[in-house]
Amino acid sequence: MLEKVQELYNEVEATSIGNEESLENFRMKYISRKSVIADLFADFKNVPNDQKKAFGQELNKLKELAESKFKDAVIVLEEAKLATEGADIDLTLPIIPHVLGTRHPISVVREEIVSIFRRIGFNLSEGPEIEDDWHNFSALNFPPNHPAREMQDTFFIEKNPDIALRTHTSSVQVRVMENSQPPIRTLSPGRVYRNEAISARAHCVFHQVEGLYIDKNVSFADLKETLYYFVKELFGSDTKIRFRPSFFPFTEPSAEIDISCHLCKGSGCKVCKHSGWVEIGGAGMVDPNVLKSSGIDPEVYSGFAFGMGIERIAMLKYQINDLRLFTENDIRFLRQFKSI
Ligand code: PHE
Repeated sequence: MLEKVQELYNEVEATSIGNEESLENFRMKYISRKSVIADLFADFKNVPNDQKKAFGQELNKLKELAESKFKDAVIVLEEAKLATEGADIDLTLPIIPHVLGTRHPISVVREEIVSIFRRIGFNLSEGPEIEDDWHNFSALNFPPNHPAREMQDTFFIEKNPDIALRTHTSSVQVRVMENSQPPIRTLSPGRVYRNEAISARAHCVFHQVEGLYIDKNVSFADLKETLYYFVKELFGSDTKIRFRPSFFPFTEPSAEIDISCHLCKGSGCKVCKHSGWVEIGGAGMVDPNVLKSSGIDPEVYSGFAFGMGIERIAMLKYQINDLRLFTENDIRFLRQFKSI
């Protein structure tokens, strides 16, 4: 049996392992639990006692040789594999560009408007898009069944005419007035809904920013000055502003806000329909009834409010001629706002 061990020793020594297949064969034959070496260990008990020592020493030597040969071969083959894989990498190839996403133009413009008003002390307020009649209409001085409710084509919830999708974010301002006392300076950006056919100029979903300022002695002059500051910041310092008399149930007096067309500087172009002016929103002094409804004493406090469409401002600022582009998610449109 000792001879058998020596024979195997020479055999193992002479074996060359050059690839995965010969490695596996080697493992099966000399390393695995069913290997010839394992068999010899199993036979150890049959070795006569006086030979056990010499046999055991030789057998262990054989085992160590097989194992170290196997381990070395694994490393050599692994390194060879890595080297060939590495050869597939072309280090001269240009890297895959890391494509940055872009902000949506509505977000860009909203952020800009918010930051302009934040600089003069306005905070932000938010409210639900599904509103009750009180916050969207009644508290804002829309009498029941008054035609003014028709001004804003409303999506009502069929089973409950008291609930609607908010038609403006003035509803948020009612919530702010109900929950705090003046001085109030708040800006409410958000999504609003109107039951309108979708076209280049109208959409059933769009965004507004409304502002509210209530304190003692707030006057129409404050409203004008605040909006003048705002349009100069947003559209440039040479922008002019004008107010046209208008009507909203929640403000008295009320006005539409126009700014001088920043494209033609007032000389007349397609965007301003050759008038030199473009409309950006509505504004007015908060009607005393609205203050009263929300628990603010109109004898002590007065305030102004204004509202504008974010899409409208974005269209003017970036010369976008179709409202539908904002919701179509066409990457060719959205990518243009990359550098902003
Ligand atoms: N809430 C009005 C609208 O959506 C805009 C507005 C706000 C007008 C505040 C005046 C004062 O049409």
